[in-house]
Amino acid sequence: MSVVLGVDIGGSGIKAAPVDLNTGELLAERMRLPTPEGAEPDAVLDVLGRLVRHFDHRGTVGITFPGIVQQGRTLSAANVSKKWVGMDADTFMTQGLGSDYDVHLLNDADAAGLAEARFGAAQGVRGVVLVVTLGTGIGSALLNDGVLVPNTELGHLFLDSRSGKARHAESWASAKVREDKELSYEEWGGRVSRYLSHLELLFSPTLFVLGGGVSKKANKWLPYIQLERSRAVPAALKNEAGIVGAAMYAAGQAPSLGEG
Ligand code: BGC
Repeated sequence: MSVVLGVDIGGSGIKAAPVDLNTGELLAERMRLPTPEGAEPDAVLDVLGRLVRHFDHRGTVGITFPGIVQQGRTLSAANVSKKWVGMDADTFMTQGLGSDYDVHLLNDADAAGLAEARFGAAQGVRGVVLVVTLGTGIGSALLNDGVLVPNTELGHLFLDSRSGKARHAESWASAKVREDKELSYEEWGGRVSRYLSHLELLFSPTLFVLGGGVSKKANKWLPYIQLERSRAVPAALKNEAGIVGAAMYAAGQAPSLGEG
């Protein structure tokens, strides 16, 4: 089996590892480099080059991007440089890394969703599942019977507040907001619950899978997540879901690779 490298571009770190597509396990220890200040395309490309060289990898590379990705083009950039908006990032990365690599790009939360559906907390779950990643931003992956509807961007919903002022969900309930505003887990959990309840009203999911860096310490905040009709569980692949999903997606796109 050819090995696919999964790379996850996040707000604070860019992480990579080769992935076993049959088990979803990492085949080598993950490498993490800091996301360059401002996450400009050239600086990010430089980090990607260092990561593929570190693993001495050639061939298929799956890369997540923290914004809308449609046919290899990056169409939004909430937490990275605005230079990405409208770019053919797939071609930019493929040319930048060189002819030894075949790059495939997708949204970061969508990658987490694919990985959780295949190997993680949403494995075998029928009906609607929402994978919500709580990190620098809020990402979403909408799955129905394991099939992904890409680029849902539900972190950018607006919520009503008692004062009547609309709140941008990501700017009010992301994990970064908890840190920046020094919110207690209880207070932040209340905000996340309010946000998820709105998603529950709109989509009636059977299950919420909550991912991102915070999934590593779910015991601290999960008790504060209160929902009426659905269950919420932490991402089983924790912060590795992006890497695994990126590799899965790339394998599915590459002409000569199956998921075997
Ligand atoms: C972006 C999404 C992304 C999420 C998590 C949001 O600001 O718009 O595309 O999935 O952050 O990184």
